[in-house]
Amino acid sequence: MTVITATAPAKVNLVFEVGPLKSNGYHDVNSLFLALDLREEITVSGALAGTGISIFVKGDGLPSRHVAAVPTDSSNLVAKVALLLSQKLGIETPDIQIDILKRIPVAGGMAGGSADAAAMLVAFNEYAHREFGTTRLSTAELMDVAAELGSDISFCVLGQLAIGTGRGEQLQPINSLPFETHWVLAISPQGLSTPSVYAKFDELVASSEFSDLSQVAGSVTSVEALASVLSNGLQPAALALMPQLESLIEEIEGLGALKAIVSGSGPTIAALCSSKDQAIEIAKTLNERGIFALTAGSPALGAKLEA
Ligand code: C5P
Repeated sequence: MTVITATAPAKVNLVFEVGPLKSNGYHDVNSLFLALDLREEITVSGALAGTGISIFVKGDGLPSRHVAAVPTDSSNLVAKVALLLSQKLGIETPDIQIDILKRIPVAGGMAGGSADAAAMLVAFNEYAHREFGTTRLSTAELMDVAAELGSDISFCVLGQLAIGTGRGEQLQPINSLPFETHWVLAISPQGLSTPSVYAKFDELVASSEFSDLSQVAGSVTSVEALASVLSNGLQPAALALMPQLESLIEEIEGLGALKAIVSGSGPTIAALCSSKDQAIEIAKTLNERGIFALTAGSPALGAKLEA
C-alpha cells in the first residue's frame, strides 16, 4: 500500500503591511514571511473503495482544543486540496485516508491550516504519481494550485524567507537571514478569525504604507537589527479584539525577549529571542505562569516529503 508523509512549516510575518480593502474582498499586503521549524505533518494512504476522503487529526504538544477545532469533513483545506489536485491531474478523487499531526496552533496567525494544505499538496502530488502514474507537478505548479485555495498556502509550500505581495500569495524568495532565529510563541486560550481581524483593521487603520522589503531584508544583518524592523500592521486590530494581548507582549518583553509582536492576524504572540536557551527559558516561565508557550526557530524549509 502506498503511504506518503509530508510536512510543511509555520510562518511568522516579520514585517506585515496591509493596504486598503479591495472590491474582491481581500487586502493587498506587503509582507516579509519567515518559515519556522514548527511543522504540520500529513500522511496520505489508501482507503476502502467507496469510502471517499476520511480525515483523522492528532495533536503533538498542543492543548486538546486545537485538535477538536479542526474540521474532519469536506470543509478542511486538505480535502479541498485532494479534490482540486485530482482535477488538475486528471484523475477521479481517490478513496484516501488523511492523517493530520498538528503542531501549529489553530486560528493563531501562524498559518496552521495553510501548512496542512501545503503538506497535502506535496503528499498528494506524490501519492497520485505512485498510485495512478500522474506526472508530478513542480513546486511552482503546486504554488499556483495553493494560491487558488488560500493566501498563505503558497508560502508554506515555498518556506525559508520571502516577500509576499498581492493577497500574500505572490512570492519573491530572498536569501535566508545570515543567522538562526529563535522564537517563543505564546498561544492564547481562544483563536481569532482572520476575516474579523481584517474587518477591525478596516475600521481602525484602513491602510498602511508599503516599504521596500528587499532593502529591509538586506539591512537585517543581526538578530538585534531584525528585532528593530519587526512590525505588524494588523497588530492594532488584533489588540482591539483581544486587549489582554497588550499585557502579554509587555510580560514577554519583561522576561528579556528582544521584541514581541502579534503573529499575522493573531492572537499568537511571536517573541524574538537572542538565543535558543533564552527562548526555552522564557517559554518555561510562561508555561509555569499558566500561559501555553512553544519555541520554534529558523531557517525552515518549505513543504517536503518525509521518508
Ligand atoms: O485567503 P484566506 O482564506 O487565508 O483568507 C481568509 C480571509 O482573510 C479572507 O476571506 C479575507 O477576509 C481576509 N484576507 C484579506 N486580505 C488578505 C488575506 C486574507 O482581507 N490579503
